[in-house]
Amino acid sequence: MLQKKTKAAAAALLLALPLAVSACGQSGGTSGGGGSAGNSAGNSAGTNATGSTDTNASGSATIALLLPETATSARYETQDRPDFEQTVQQLAPNIKVIYNNAQGNATTQQQQAEAAITNGAKVLVLDPVDSKAAATIVNEAQQAGVKVISYDRLITGANVDYYVSFDNEKVGQLQGQYIADHTPKGGTVVMIDGAQTDNNALLFAKGAHDVLDPLFANGTLKKGYETYTPDWLPANGQREMEQALTQLNNKVDGVLVANDGLAGAVIQALRAQGLAGKVPVTGQDATDAGLHNILQGLQSMTVYKAVKQEAEAAAKLAVALAQGQQPDASLINGKVNNGTKDVPSVLLTPVVVTKDNIQDTVIKDGYTTMDKINAAKS
Ligand code: BGC
Repeated sequence: MLQKKTKAAAAALLLALPLAVSACGQSGGTSGGGGSAGNSAGNSAGTNATGSTDTNASGSATIALLLPETATSARYETQDRPDFEQTVQQLAPNIKVIYNNAQGNATTQQQQAEAAITNGAKVLVLDPVDSKAAATIVNEAQQAGVKVISYDRLITGANVDYYVSFDNEKVGQLQGQYIADHTPKGGTVVMIDGAQTDNNALLFAKGAHDVLDPLFANGTLKKGYETYTPDWLPANGQREMEQALTQLNNKVDGVLVANDGLAGAVIQALRAQGLAGKVPVTGQDATDAGLHNILQGLQSMTVYKAVKQEAEAAAKLAVALAQGQQPDASLINGKVNNGTKDVPSVLLTPVVVTKDNIQDTVIKDGYTTMDKINAAKS
């Protein structure tokens, strides 16, 4: 069991996170090459001309935000990045943010991390493409005296400084419970689990199995097909679902899908067999396309993770570390063992979203708008 947290501590954390940071959206003051492998500077003030990793007299320093992909979830470019950059800008206008997205390539990510270290980053906020392979990056960072915050996905087998994420096993439990509650008795369940190289995908699957395995064991439900999805790629997810349908002669009564990007692909495969909208399909991320599918009755639920809180927590930790300070201990609400150590962690709470509570959750929070959902391609 890789995740632990206490409810009281989680509540304390939520109180500690200010709700006042202005509405999310694209950050105006920062810019950078979202999709490219090259480095892009965010806040222009505070560039350290010497490339030294020391904070200079004006308090400037550099933080690198390294995100994993754009293919299966819109969250990284539309939520994580602007929320993070905005919070850093508010907390410490002199701190520069280097932003890179690895586009699903672990080697690219390592190069981006190395370049960021060379360019003076004092802190890496690293959402690893590959949870194990990223240990190399952590070792390199440590040798250079650079701190690493494992962002959203746990980096395993390495001496990371902090971990900021959600209760990811809980995400899988919520998805599993939805399938348990909405699949007819005796029905056949397909599980499309996301990338095995992502520690989160392992936790999502574990959480789902916590709920579904007893039902598979006592015959309430049948597990018809289960697979991980290389690189989280929707094209792979669609192929997997097509294979499941073929293998099961279309006898599919519920599909547990790890996220909204894959759910969209699964819906394509179901549609080709006349089954779209007829079986429960789960998701995660509350993407506009996922929410659009929910409103259309094609996807049944998604799991909303308040990325703004996650990005803000990571930004607060990163700014303190970049300024050579000890981060505020009240931010931390748990410890997660990553195989090397108990990593001080910030773990936030995921929430189920269905047709019935879109308004009260993602809209109320300013995560998205009805206009964006309606305009999204399903
Ligand atoms: C994240 C999800 C995301 C998935 C694919 C996971 O690690 O927690 O929010 O959908 O990766 O990028």
